[in-house]
Amino acid sequence: MAKQPLRLAIVGCGDIAQYVTRFARLNRRIQLAAACDVSADRAEAFARRFKIPQTFTDYAAMLEQAELDAVYLAVPHHLHGEMMATAVAHHTPVFTEKPVTRTLAEGQKIAQLAAAQGIKIGVNYQYRYDSGCHRLARAVQNGDLGAVHSVRINIPWHRKADYFDHAAWHSKIATAGGGTLLTQGSHFLDVVLWALAGDDPVTAVGYTAQRKFKTSSAPAHRGKDTTERIEVEDLAQGIIQMASGALIQISSSMVASSEQATSIEVYGERATAVYSPSPLPHVKFRDAPVKAPKPPHRGIHALQRSLEGFRAWVMDDVPYLTPAPSALPVLAAVEAIYRSAQSEKREEIEDWRLENRENALSNL
Ligand SMILES: NC(=O)c1ccc[n+]([C@@H]2O[C@H](COP(=O)([O-])OP(=O)(O)OC[C@H]3O[C@@H](n4cnc5c(N)ncnc54)[C@H](O)[C@@H]3O)[C@@H](O)[C@H]2O)c1
Repeated sequence: MAKQPLRLAIVGCGDIAQYVTRFARLNRRIQLAAACDVSADRAEAFARRFKIPQTFTDYAAMLEQAELDAVYLAVPHHLHGEMMATAVAHHTPVFTEKPVTRTLAEGQKIAQLAAAQGIKIGVNYQYRYDSGCHRLARAVQNGDLGAVHSVRINIPWHRKADYFDHAAWHSKIATAGGGTLLTQGSHFLDVVLWALAGDDPVTAVGYTAQRKFKTSSAPAHRGKDTTERIEVEDLAQGIIQMASGALIQISSSMVASSEQATSIEVYGERATAVYSPSPLPHVKFRDAPVKAPKPPHRGIHALQRSLEGFRAWVMDDVPYLTPAPSALPVLAAVEAIYRSAQSEKREEIEDWRLENRENALSNL
């Protein structure tokens, strides 16, 4: 096991970075080496709060100048791809926030580039490390439920207008890539597709809607109040058909009147599994005794275990649950639901496998 701590830079000192950095501070095997944000004020306030020795406003300059073992990317989605490519060029491993990129094509290119250079990219789909989701997925993978017939995922979340006002990038397709399905729902669809690995998603139908958020009040600018058009959906529903014929139904929203608990229900031929994060993450198995393993690594929260999982992967070569190629099926499925919402037809889910791609590197 590595004796040296992982020297990690935090890139993007916004909302989620605060949680992950708090967990990084609790991990003695991680050393916070630098904080980077385009806003110097944000980077400096963040560095003061978390006792980080150096700040940068220029990511490329940070990679040139700072002594780092890895970067954690917590920036808007449209920056993930180019920042990962720059890190790979500097032979620096990356722990990126989800989704790996806005689009499948971009994600495949970056995963292929990283594989060609031998650089590790982990994606923070931390629910694979959640104690309930992990046990559910392992029970499915171990065949404890028998063949899975159907899955129902419900994410009835609540967001206020300040969700868009504080981070306008959430509202645009060009910067976010999509709305609630990509940003929130993909966490749980990722868990289910990981649980069912070996049974490929093949087609999807979907609907998207804007029920609550169409415009947002942008901060007053030079004394004028402005409103911004929100482009992304706040409600999405989809059905994914697997190669086996199993069906996954997902409803992802940010329009519930107050935040409600996510649920995942998996109906197998022998047993049923029901996941809930409330009051603490857990899964209940019905109709058969199931002993599913806990997630690896210690910690009170999935984010903590996911971060330690990445550290152990980079420093000690311990397998990580979410390397970049494994975060591609969820992108392929989400894209197919979005395409179906536009075309009003059933859409095929594109092949995400890197080994089936030709000449991707030449297009980078
Ligand atoms: N894993 C989770 O549970 C979880 C939860 C929330 C968000 N996220 C993900 O985290 C990422 C960030 O989301 P957020 O909600 O924290 O966003 P945010 O808007 O709160 O923070 C983004 C930060 O990036 C900075 N930034 C923008 N361009 C930059 C650049 N070129 N260089 C350096 N910094 C730059 C911004 O100034 C801002 O401080 C997204 O991928 C999002 O989907 C993950």
